[in-house]
Amino acid sequence: MTAAAEARVGPPLWLLAELTYRCPLQCPYCSNPLDYASQQQELSTEQWLDVLRQGRAMGAAQLGFSGGEPLVRQDLPELIAGARDLGYYTNLITSGIGLTEAKVQAFAEAGLDHIQVSFQASDPELNNAVAGSRKAFEQKLAMARAVKAAGYPMVLNFVIHRHNIHQMNDILALCENLDADYVELATCQYYGWAFKNREGLMPSKAQLVQAEHEVNCYRDDLRSRDRAMKVIFVTPDYYEERPKACMNGWGNLFLTVAPDGTALPCHSARLLPIDFPNVQTKSLNDIWYHSPGFNHYRGDSWMPEPCRSCDEKDKDFGGCRCQAYLLTGNADNADPVCSKSPHNDRILAARTAADHATAGLDDLIYRNARNSKLLYRG
Ligand code: FES
Repeated sequence: MTAAAEARVGPPLWLLAELTYRCPLQCPYCSNPLDYASQQQELSTEQWLDVLRQGRAMGAAQLGFSGGEPLVRQDLPELIAGARDLGYYTNLITSGIGLTEAKVQAFAEAGLDHIQVSFQASDPELNNAVAGSRKAFEQKLAMARAVKAAGYPMVLNFVIHRHNIHQMNDILALCENLDADYVELATCQYYGWAFKNREGLMPSKAQLVQAEHEVNCYRDDLRSRDRAMKVIFVTPDYYEERPKACMNGWGNLFLTVAPDGTALPCHSARLLPIDFPNVQTKSLNDIWYHSPGFNHYRGDSWMPEPCRSCDEKDKDFGGCRCQAYLLTGNADNADPVCSKSPHNDRILAARTAADHATAGLDDLIYRNARNSKLLYRG
């Protein structure tokens, strides 16, 4: 890339450090690769610190620690302290499993800015069934309280799907009870394990409309009581007419580093038939500005019709490359979510299937090493 083109690209402002694919839970909507069990290699502490140094030198300011479950990395306090010294704003994205009050305290002392705890449902039975862990719910409750007690804003995340979408009122009541400051109700996005389980997870349109109504009513009620809890409801793009501006554009703001050091423009890009570089063999600067993988979908010269001549292409960049690949087998295609896409029928078929789906929790394929190995082999 020329210096002029480099200047147009700008630095990666957001760095996501996927520290590990290891996780004690088995959520059937996990965004990690289906073959994660065959990818055991993880960067060392020193290698991660070097990645963080390089990212910060390029201009990255926000840093997310995720996984898998990042708490399984014993060097997490060291990585947090290193990030704090470099001047990052840091966010830990965790299930809360493996967290203790002492760890919350240690992370606060190391300089962690923000912790987000995820739940699977509003009650222990459903929560633990989806998580694949009998004690998950109680632990999450205790750790959400510990995070708040340590002075952090309480940020709770619920992934919403057809098996818990009827719980909006109960979920929000639970969040209020925990004195949450922010609640993200994120309807499932279909990548990784969620794509594999889409038929068993995707809510019907009627379920979605009812859930949005309940959330809006709850918001009104919060306002009438002067309760400041902020509720964000993220709708599934399968029910939109235009695609999302995924990652705010390919190689534009976000840089993800997978556990083994593979650098990706988004957390799902590993599934694409594109060769992505690794931080163990290339500098982050080289990867971001010069690697074919990161330049593959920059700009609009790669776009086929109808995106190329679309007056909305600067708004949504043709949508999501991973979704185009998963649904059409070719990542160059317009995101089928777009009603102008010649492949929009895939989305319409998924909506129809969701209207008639009967799958129960037992029909889902849970994210665990055994299933990963079976899928990978088969
Ligand atoms: Fe990869 Fe959208 S998730 S480009």
